[in-house]
Amino acid sequence: MMNIGTPLSPTATRVMLLGSGELGKEIIISLQRYGVEVIAVDRYPNAPGHQVAHRSHVINMSDAHALRALVEKERPHIIVPEIEAIATDMLVQIELEGLAEVIPTARAAQLTMNREGIRRLAAEELGLATSCYAFAESLHELQVAVDSEIGYPCIVKPVMSSSGKGQSLVKNSEQLTTAWDYAVKAGRVNYGKVIVEEKIEFDYEVTLLTVRNQVGGEDSVTSFCEPIGHIQQNGDYTESWQPQRMSYLALERSRKIAYAVTHKLGGRGVFGVELFVKGDDVWFSEVSPRPHDTGMVTMISQRQSEFELHARAILGLPVDVGLLSPGASAVIYGGLDKAAICYLSVDKALSYPKTEIRLFGKPESFEKRRMGVALAYGESVEDALECAKLAAAAVKPVASTANFGNIV
Ligand SMILES: Nc1ncnc2c1ncn2[C@@H]1O[C@H](COP(=O)(O)OP(=O)(O)OP(=O)(O)O)[C@@H](O)[C@H]1O
Ligand SMILES: [Mg+2]
Repeated sequence: MMNIGTPLSPTATRVMLLGSGELGKEIIISLQRYGVEVIAVDRYPNAPGHQVAHRSHVINMSDAHALRALVEKERPHIIVPEIEAIATDMLVQIELEGLAEVIPTARAAQLTMNREGIRRLAAEELGLATSCYAFAESLHELQVAVDSEIGYPCIVKPVMSSSGKGQSLVKNSEQLTTAWDYAVKAGRVNYGKVIVEEKIEFDYEVTLLTVRNQVGGEDSVTSFCEPIGHIQQNGDYTESWQPQRMSYLALERSRKIAYAVTHKLGGRGVFGVELFVKGDDVWFSEVSPRPHDTGMVTMISQRQSEFELHARAILGLPVDVGLLSPGASAVIYGGLDKAAICYLSVDKALSYPKTEIRLFGKPESFEKRRMGVALAYGESVEDALECAKLAAAAVKPVASTANFGNIV
């Protein structure tokens, strides 16, 4: 049974977030509502999650020693990774020593931070359908793999990266060198290994949010949210909606794949299972052992958002994955490179019916940085998506504004 103490006292239930971006911020807000003591960690000060936690720290989470020192200092009961770039070997050790519990498990964090780990597990151990793939550690190996088995068009990605960084679509052999250089340069750590995948010509792609939770010492229960459809540009999502209409067979297959992968990874929490769908055929792409960016739509479309679901699963509480209404989300980008920007016309954005806006409060804007999101619900996914896009487009990020005081 899970007991919750009083924050900032000797009975506190302490949770440490490793990564405190917009997703971490929402997880923290959900945890705060249960009176959990939250420690937010990120690589830079004043990250979104830092602003809503009891304490915040700035460290390089890939540095095993720094990570260990902070865990020993803060003594969290539970560690929640929000990003991939973490010294996961140290998380495994911390879990092994019983110093803290890692959500969903340290091994899940370790396997999913490297595309090779999770792809081999899904395709080779579990026998799930995936795109054809190969790994290469030099341009020559890459060329051989594409010529002999993958073909064109194909997609080259660093094995350690996220948000589409270092990823390129390659249409012919002339583009392969550029793709190799780009992948190796953009990879998370200077690790010259890439995955090359056949390009799947899918009809649409979905994120199937899958929750594993254990209540009162019972066995794990798996539940599935309604599928989320989304559009990706350069490996980053721009719009998402829920529910994505799917054929009965495609949905069944998606749930089977999601069950197999999350069951294998184990532990408890929300997982974002990414799938490609064409007709009734489904391919596994990858999985986040944590809430997913495309799942921000659930803040408006579900009674319990993916963040609330994660918080509940973390605390061993019952969950309800039910849909409240069709909904959609649209990303608000910075549009400019500048610190401390201002957001104009939020009032206009919210004048569209059934909309909400989240501004993440990131201290510095970049042209392509996600600074906020517009959410909308509606009679249909189409209505919701239209309103979410209008609301997102209405918000105008600017360098600074003299008339900001005119608000009142
Ligand atoms: N084999 C493929 N066939 C077709 N499209 C693909 C393939 N691999 C990736 N994509 C497209 O690129 C997007 C990003 O790929 P992927 O999820 O592997 O990268 P990522 O860097 O982990 O992105 P994120 O961290 O945002 O999930 C996918 O959602 C899909 O739209
Ligand atoms: Mg992805």
